[in-house]
Amino acid sequence: MPEAHKPRHGSEDWQQSYEQGTTPWDSGLIDPALRAVIEAREVTPCKTLEVGCGTGTNAIYLAQAGFDVTATDFAPLAIEKARAKATAAGMRIDFQVADLAELNVPAASIEFLFDRGCYHCLRREGRLSDYQKMVKQVVKPGGRILILCGNADSPHEYGPPKVSATEVCSDFEKLCRIERLSAYHFEDVGGTEGPLAWQVLMTRR
Ligand SMILES: C[S@@+](CC[C@H](N)C(=O)[O-])C[C@H]1O[C@@H](n2cnc3c(N)ncnc32)[C@H](O)[C@@H]1O
Repeated sequence: MPEAHKPRHGSEDWQQSYEQGTTPWDSGLIDPALRAVIEAREVTPCKTLEVGCGTGTNAIYLAQAGFDVTATDFAPLAIEKARAKATAAGMRIDFQVADLAELNVPAASIEFLFDRGCYHCLRREGRLSDYQKMVKQVVKPGGRILILCGNADSPHEYGPPKVSATEVCSDFEKLCRIERLSAYHFEDVGGTEGPLAWQVLMTRR
């Protein structure tokens, strides 16, 4: 299996990927599904948390669009790069190096939770319940959630962890009302079509 597609477990594996540059998800491009949601004003500027923010491309986009952003990742090098990019862009973002289960975020304070590629990793590691606890703990009732994750309808063996539509629904339906579950493609470096994905837009019950 190519190095870039090997499953990663724990912060050291992810840190190593950032050190080695084996980060195919890190396109440097604003995710098109996030951009569409923001441009359509489906979610408007508010207190926002991005989990598994990587090197911060989307967090910076949200800050530039007027969102009050806290962005977290447990790989220290990802956050170091994200901080440098935000400084260069002149954006103030509260970056935290933390496991998603140990965030320093007040309970029920988040009005928009954004995640590109973290939920599907937690799930693969058998840590879905940690993810669900995080959603329950930090997202305000009525808050919006946009999760972008791998899609099990993909015909390819490699790529991000894959989740079926049924699994997405059963993982979140108790906590959230699912407004949209639609397929799209992640973008790879240079804007070429990447792996098949889901965009999941939800409201916390
Ligand atoms: C596929 S990458 C996506 C990064 C970024 N969202 C992007 O789109 O470029 C998943 C990210 O989640 C982070 N991550 C994985 N498990 C995590 C956990 N338990 N707590 C915090 N971050 C985690 C990894 O370090 C990695 O940066």
